[in-house]
Amino acid sequence: MADLRIQPSQGLQGEITLPGDKSISHRSVLFAAIADGDTRISGFLTGEDTQNTARAMQSLGIEIEGLGTERLVVHGKGLDGLSEPVSVLDLGNSGTGMRLLAGLLAGQDFFSILTGDQYLMKRPMARIVEPLRRMGAKTDGRSGGTLAPLAIRGGGKTLCSAQYVSPVASAQVKSAILLAGLYADGETRVSEPSKSRDHTERMFRFFGVDVREQGTTVMVQGRQRLRASGPLEIPSDISSAAFFMVAASIVPGSDLLIRNVGVNPTRTGIIDVLQNMGAGITLQNLREQAGEPTADVRVRHRKLHGVQIAGDMIPRAIDEIPVLAVAASYAEGKTSIRNAAELRVKESDRIATMAEELRKMGATVAEFPDGMELTGGDGLRGAVCDSHGDHRIAMSVAVAGLAARGETVVRDTEWIDTSFPGFERLLRQAAYA
Ligand code: S3P
Repeated sequence: MADLRIQPSQGLQGEITLPGDKSISHRSVLFAAIADGDTRISGFLTGEDTQNTARAMQSLGIEIEGLGTERLVVHGKGLDGLSEPVSVLDLGNSGTGMRLLAGLLAGQDFFSILTGDQYLMKRPMARIVEPLRRMGAKTDGRSGGTLAPLAIRGGGKTLCSAQYVSPVASAQVKSAILLAGLYADGETRVSEPSKSRDHTERMFRFFGVDVREQGTTVMVQGRQRLRASGPLEIPSDISSAAFFMVAASIVPGSDLLIRNVGVNPTRTGIIDVLQNMGAGITLQNLREQAGEPTADVRVRHRKLHGVQIAGDMIPRAIDEIPVLAVAASYAEGKTSIRNAAELRVKESDRIATMAEELRKMGATVAEFPDGMELTGGDGLRGAVCDSHGDHRIAMSVAVAGLAARGETVVRDTEWIDTSFPGFERLLRQAAYA
């Protein structure tokens, strides 16, 4: 049980480069595995979640060089090159790993079982099990197929294409169905209430697959082959950068440059919300790598004020709401976060866990079924806080501690390694230079 002790910072300074994007890293190994030819990946996230996905691909017969490092070579075996795993595939803490892999396995003509840790076992799986069943993959799990472990006997050549209207804006659901749809005859379409992150669509294109989009509907024609092309360079994760963006925004005296951050518009809600709150954030050196926009992000301390966060903004900032709640606690006035019920089914119930931890630090928080309202003002005081087994709660509380009065202790922080290895070292480097 690792504790993190955070003292108040006098300002975050200098330049930092953060680990690779988690969403893109998961997809890079899945897609490279079913492509024709070898793919060189750089910037691969060495966090536990993405290592588990890579190890699962090895269990499906894929040779991967460099596992455990940021540079991988994946020897793709083509669309029908995966083989039946001998044992259960363990995705650890990762909802993305489990749900995307379930979609891919729905298209195979073999049997597999997906499992994970105590937290992943509680997360909803009906959202993928139900559409994958409709497509003809025999998919089951605990509690009538609503919880993992999941057992999947793929539909192979008999899989049907889908016209699926998802009740939630979820890139994991969309991606699972599109990956299954790649194995079906005909066109698969997925619609969602608002647009979720589009890394799957972009990566399909990177591998030469034709994907069409119309509003919030994505369409892919089945049986297209993926072609390995140039090197796949993964930018740093904007969801990891978010902790530093908020930290530098709330700690007086800060001026920080975060290099090479992925700034895909479906992910930049954190920047838009912070700018609406009055933050001093500028993007420099905008460019594109492997079909994804990237930039260097400069953040200077400014006084923040409360805002409303709701509607289409929610999927664009879904993983950053916990740390935005920290920003709101240091802002002048009220911040309201609504339409965010999805937060309750993440690695923890992030509405309940953030409200609980911020209250320990003296914050004024009202909780709603689909969000919360925070009243900022006098700042926060250090406290002994808990991660609730959730990496983003641990890092959010640590950021809150940088601007608090007195010491903050965050308990049970080993979960941070699921998405952000090296977080403590980088935070200390920037915050106490
Ligand atoms: C992810 C999608 C989001 C996000 C998760 C990563 C992805 O989940 O919260 O951290 O890589 O597709 P949902 O699609 O369930 O909203």
